[in-house]
Amino acid sequence: METRKRIGLLTSGGDCPGLNAVIRAAVRHATLSYDWEVLGIPYATQGLLEGKAVSLNVHGLDSRGIDPLLSTGGTILGSINKGDTEAQADQIIAGYQKLGLDALIVIGGDGSLAIMNQLAHKGNMNIVGVPKTIDNDVAFTNLAVGFDTAVNTIVDALSRLSYTAASHDRVMVVEVMGREAGHLALNAGIAGGADVILIPEIPYSISGVCKHITELRDRWNRRFAIVVVAEGAKTIEGQERYYTDSQGEIRLRGIGDYVADQISHFSGDKIEARVTVLGHVQRGGAPSALDRLLATSFGKAAVDLIAKDDYQKMVAWQNGVVVSIPIDEVTSNSPILVDSHHPLVETAKALDTYIGDL
Ligand code: F6P
Repeated sequence: METRKRIGLLTSGGDCPGLNAVIRAAVRHATLSYDWEVLGIPYATQGLLEGKAVSLNVHGLDSRGIDPLLSTGGTILGSINKGDTEAQADQIIAGYQKLGLDALIVIGGDGSLAIMNQLAHKGNMNIVGVPKTIDNDVAFTNLAVGFDTAVNTIVDALSRLSYTAASHDRVMVVEVMGREAGHLALNAGIAGGADVILIPEIPYSISGVCKHITELRDRWNRRFAIVVVAEGAKTIEGQERYYTDSQGEIRLRGIGDYVADQISHFSGDKIEARVTVLGHVQRGGAPSALDRLLATSFGKAAVDLIAKDDYQKMVAWQNGVVVSIPIDEVTSNSPILVDSHHPLVETAKALDTYIGDL
């Protein structure tokens, strides 16, 4: 007879909306369909290292049980995106064994999946990955959990900013996240009707940006403009803007200020530019309906892979269905950047959006 499985769940890397929805789906399916025991590992590898876990089941504080997790932001398990996992590998693996886990669902982006995959190879851990990241740069999946909500958050901000921009005849420069990938900026820029979209993958020039903004005025008397700039977009000299935080970590930030200053400077202060850095607002809030669907489908599919003892795979969304891909392949092909001939790039250009000097 098949023994009752004990599985673990952890969330690793930057949080995003929809993580709790994955947890809810996995817990419901694992406990109600398979009668397994589910343990939540707090703070990812830190929890494993300390051998810590909390029991997860469908019951909650009130009659809604675990279901409120479907619509909440953040992660009830907590998350970390730092730590020397190479040096701590043996302890982390020992924690997995100490907890008596048959398998572990790793909800993470490409960085976390790569780390957990290495540990899994080293320590014979059975893992199944669920892709999540607002950057949407994980290979082999059209969508990662959190991306759609972040796009909606940016679009909402662009809509609000366009009113104040129009009232003051200003250029609003909006800096968005995404690391080295421009998916967030490109998708939100198009959906939010931006006039200029600057992404890391396509070089731009300030002269091109200013020419475009001036043409808006000359051609149809549009006296304001919305510029969306990805945090990883590079200056004309090909440099990124970043700062080093108190822990010595490099954080992308500052391209919005740079672009706004350059626009004012290049136009001889004729164009007034203001900057909004959306920052971690993009990671917060309730997940969108699409993210809830994705998270729920992924949570269910991850549990089904474990039921088949089909490990070292990541669930992925391809053309409307969930498939599974070896994590080795995912990590060796990630991150996925925006192709400069992507149909959305063509769409932006066709609508007379400035997207660089290609
Ligand atoms: O990878 C997700 C992400 O939000 C990036 O878009 C961003 O550059 C980074 O994480 C920010 O990380 P942190 O929360 O550690 O500042």
